[in-house]
Amino acid sequence: VILTQDELKKIAAYKAVEYVESNMVLGLGTGSTAKHAVARIAELLNQGKLHNIIGIPTSKITYDQAVSLGIPLSDLDSHPIVDLAIDGADEVDPFLNLVKGRGGSLLREKMVESSCRKFVVIVDESKMVKHLGGSGLAMPVEVVPFCWKFTAMRLKALFEDSGCVAKLRTLGENESGGVPYVTDNGNYIVDLYFKKDIGDLKVASDEILRLAGVVEHGMFIDMATTVIVAGELGVTVKDK
Ligand code: A5P
Repeated sequence: VILTQDELKKIAAYKAVEYVESNMVLGLGTGSTAKHAVARIAELLNQGKLHNIIGIPTSKITYDQAVSLGIPLSDLDSHPIVDLAIDGADEVDPFLNLVKGRGGSLLREKMVESSCRKFVVIVDESKMVKHLGGSGLAMPVEVVPFCWKFTAMRLKALFEDSGCVAKLRTLGENESGGVPYVTDNGNYIVDLYFKKDIGDLKVASDEILRLAGVVEHGMFIDMATTVIVAGELGVTVKDK
């Protein structure tokens, strides 16, 4: 049988939920893969196989899903120590560095996932890449709406040598152009596309974060402790 991409995502998600134990504070990720993990956690709570879980959602959409499934929730203000976070990713490199945020939730994801003891990433095999930003897909940067064009211009200039194109993320077009996509935090997303390798990720990260107007970017460097990859030939668990 050939499994669909969604079936692979579900296999990875269920495997990650095996890391969940009762009495944990859990970071709940966002996206089409993470939603399977959230559903599975709710199922185990309802079956009495897990108890006393506190979920910390990484987006409004995950908050809504968790509330609808009855998972008790809190936030980082009340629960600053997260035992385990489970989330998807858009790209994973051989060192377990990630690109996240094509779903737009990178800031809250990074806040939760940079403060957790264990961060388990769940992907289907299509997400594995040699170099982050090399797949021709977006590298998202969350920016404040104020003069976003100026910030986009400066982002593009940072990566001139990599043939960078910077585009405001929009929700389709209307007569006056695209309607900006607005994050849960009221910000915009500028998606960066590269023609060539962006070089050292840590340097790129620092340069992006130094620009006034940038709130956060979607590179998650040295954060994942485990990556679970589901493929046609089975599940691979990569530990840091
Ligand atoms: C949300 O902003 C993202 O970081 C997601 O975690 C990431 O895009 C993976 O999403 P999928 O599991 O839907 O591919």
